[in-house]
Amino acid sequence: MMVIEGGEAQLSENFYSASCPRLKNIVKKVMISMIFQVNKGCDASVMILSPNGDAEKDSEDNLSLVGDGFDTIVEAKQAVEAVCPGVVSCSDILALATRDAVVVTGGPSYNVELGRRDGLRSKKSDVTKHLPDPDNKFNELLNMFTKHGLNQTDLVALSGAHTIGAAHCSKFSKRIYNYSQSSPVDPTMNPIYALLLQQQCPPGVNPKKVVPMDPARPRSKTFDNLYYQNLIAGMGLFTSDQELFTNPASRPTVIDFANNPGNFNAAFVTAMRKLGRVGVKTGKQGEIRRNCAAFNEHLNPKEITTKFRVKP
Ligand code: HEM
Ligand SMILES: *[C@@H]1O[C@H](CO)[C@@H](O)[C@H](O)[C@H]1NC(C)=O
Ligand SMILES: *[C@@H]1O[C@H](CO)[C@@H](O)[C@H](O)[C@H]1NC(C)=O
Repeated sequence: MMVIEGGEAQLSENFYSASCPRLKNIVKKVMISMIFQVNKGCDASVMILSPNGDAEKDSEDNLSLVGDGFDTIVEAKQAVEAVCPGVVSCSDILALATRDAVVVTGGPSYNVELGRRDGLRSKKSDVTKHLPDPDNKFNELLNMFTKHGLNQTDLVALSGAHTIGAAHCSKFSKRIYNYSQSSPVDPTMNPIYALLLQQQCPPGVNPKKVVPMDPARPRSKTFDNLYYQNLIAGMGLFTSDQELFTNPASRPTVIDFANNPGNFNAAFVTAMRKLGRVGVKTGKQGEIRRNCAAFNEHLNPKEITTKFRVKP
């Protein structure tokens, strides 16, 4: 799952090397202690708790988007604030934590560019507006990506993140129950996989029910290229996944990544770094949020100065 917004700006890997030299170690430590909790999203606006139920976190998509991963970011931020108060943005902590989560689950490591500022806006309606839809066809996905400077290779590589995590039954129920008049099951889906999904998601299933995105290793939280082997076998969960193999333009890349984990890892790292530049706020834009779960203006000023004060 990812959140896409407009704009590009200059970031740097050394942005905090003077102002918060221990940053990367602090975040890594918190992430390792919360092993296997993957968070995603490119802008910490997804983390705002809204008092009126209108924040991004309150959208239906929050059901698995946030939760444990969200708490991890809040915790990492508190650890960072204790050492470098008011210096490091929540968006940057999220970017570092995402990298650490990829590494901890066995994926490739990469340097994270830093210097993002936190957004001052977090609206439920933005989630649907900026997220690719799981029912999207190849051209819709590619359009959304190219609009943000990401190309077809990036699309295929980033989708590999679906080797990790889980999805709600509602996100793919159309593919297994009412795909079309002539075929209730999406013909690009492996029929045995469709049966498995129908068992896991019977009609009328609890809307909170989630299924693992990687059917081949449902219990393992391993970041690997199995996702692409699954696509070749017709075991992509969403239309947006399976389309990458169905479409002749991207199929060779899927086959390449299925056969060459090194090529997948390299493309994933390239694409993650590009994704990390999409729509970021820098310079004087936005703010450095003191608490990742609230805009500064909603925080009690006393809380800001006392709660996160550096211990002498
Ligand atoms: C290419 C277009 C993409 C689409 C259409 C898409 C769609 C989705 C959907 C519908 C879910 C399930 C959400 C739910 O049921 O609550 C999901 C989960 C997830 N997505 Fe994506 N996604 C895309 C790309 C990405 C990218 C680029 C990343 C990361 C770089 C990513 C990482 C994840 C992860 C880790 C989960 C699991 C969430 C969890 O376990 O809580 N996705 N995605
Ligand atoms: C998700 O949103 C629902 C409302 O749509 C809300 O009741 C729930 O508390 C939210 N969950 C989290 C973890 O924020
Ligand atoms: C996408 O961009 C990367 C560099 O960012 C490049 O290596 C790759 O070949 C490009 N793919 C396509 C299809 O243009």
